[in-house]
Amino acid sequence: MRLYGSLWRNIHARGVPSRYLANMAVQRPCHVTVLGEQYLTDHMTNISPTIVSKLPLKLHTQPSHPLSTLRGLIESHFPSYTHLSSLSPLVTPYQNFDLLSFPKDHPGRSVTDSYYVNKDLMLRTHTSAHEVEVFGRGETKWLLTADVYRRDEIDGSHYPVFHQTEGARIVSANSTGMKEIEEDNERLAAHLEQSSIEIEDVPHLSPTNPCQPAHDPKHTELIAKNLKLSLNSLMLHLFAGRVGATAQNPLKVRWIEATFPWTTPSFEVEVFFRGKWLEILGCGVIYQPTLDNANVSNKLGWAFGLGLERIAMVLYSIPDIRLFWSQDPRFLSQFKQGEITTFKPYSKYPACFKDVSFWLPEGQMLHENDFCDLVRDVAGDVVEDVKLIDDFTHPKTNRKSLCYRINYRSMDRSLSNDEANSLNAQVVSCLRDRFRVEIR
Ligand code: DAH
Repeated sequence: MRLYGSLWRNIHARGVPSRYLANMAVQRPCHVTVLGEQYLTDHMTNISPTIVSKLPLKLHTQPSHPLSTLRGLIESHFPSYTHLSSLSPLVTPYQNFDLLSFPKDHPGRSVTDSYYVNKDLMLRTHTSAHEVEVFGRGETKWLLTADVYRRDEIDGSHYPVFHQTEGARIVSANSTGMKEIEEDNERLAAHLEQSSIEIEDVPHLSPTNPCQPAHDPKHTELIAKNLKLSLNSLMLHLFAGRVGATAQNPLKVRWIEATFPWTTPSFEVEVFFRGKWLEILGCGVIYQPTLDNANVSNKLGWAFGLGLERIAMVLYSIPDIRLFWSQDPRFLSQFKQGEITTFKPYSKYPACFKDVSFWLPEGQMLHENDFCDLVRDVAGDVVEDVKLIDDFTHPKTNRKSLCYRINYRSMDRSLSNDEANSLNAQVVSCLRDRFRVEIR
């Protein structure tokens, strides 16, 4: 999961070329059908057929699916919370970004990073998109699990659809609310003290992770403490049994300062699992304007968001993110609702590498996410990996040439060289039609 925090901003700080090639194949005006409804397209439309086909699947609600078991495991840890899992993935950019105080120039808004039905409607890029709506309904303790959509590269750990669970708790900003939090903090701290967990913490507040002007720092400290205790205890619930944590070998959890537009102070949580620090979630004390937008100005509280695939991949030892979408009985029949078991890989079929090289029109760039969506539209889940292997600018003509290496490998069957050639020929022809590039 790429968090909408500091790390994400750094990734995007690398120079963004000024002119991306437009997809010439999008006819305007026309319609696109999404979840049975027709919508007008416009200059922002970039939702692809592959993505449209994923919308009804909701893997997190399919019984026995690893993502559904993981959702259940998280929900069972918060039994008194409202559990939501069927909100529509179609949201307005206003819900996804503005209501959460994303700056107007945030890179997440661009058509190269997010999927738009048209300028007024998009696929949620994170479950936080529903925060204002859910608080507005009067919910004060809730979890929401859903499919989210982001344009991305293609490899074994990135997929343009993934799943997140959002969790939040708000209380009245008065002595009654604070008493409720204090009592809960005592209960959680007592439980954690008896558990095999080692926590590397950061202060609840610091000059680089400050209290919001609207808040009393004492209240913020209590809320941040409740957030940390609640999530440390969730980490214990998810991981401790799996690593056989003991007093001598405790589960290691570390907290890191972060930045999110709709929380202050903000944090990220990492867990040490099978020899690596895994980035698990982002969280923080909810920015007061977010609660004002939901008409609950008299409350304060915390929120977190975690990505399910990354956690499920390590818990079940699932090596490739595409497997979650597999309909192969050899995959699906391995799992039972509520049980975490180690995935037994069935034979891995041979990889088939094909290169695609082309010249771009002068002064133009092709965004890697546009290239990857095109490859997915042609080859679906038969594409395992796409890598840029050459990027060359001709010294005289100043024209740019790119070469991508595509790894075609089915998860379910052996792919013949003829099939891979035919897929690659379709990629080439589609590339020519959509972006008017010159194949080399
Ligand atoms: N929505 C964030 C993302 O996808 C994750 C997140 C961070 C959710 C902080 C939160 C939060 O609720 O408080 O990157």
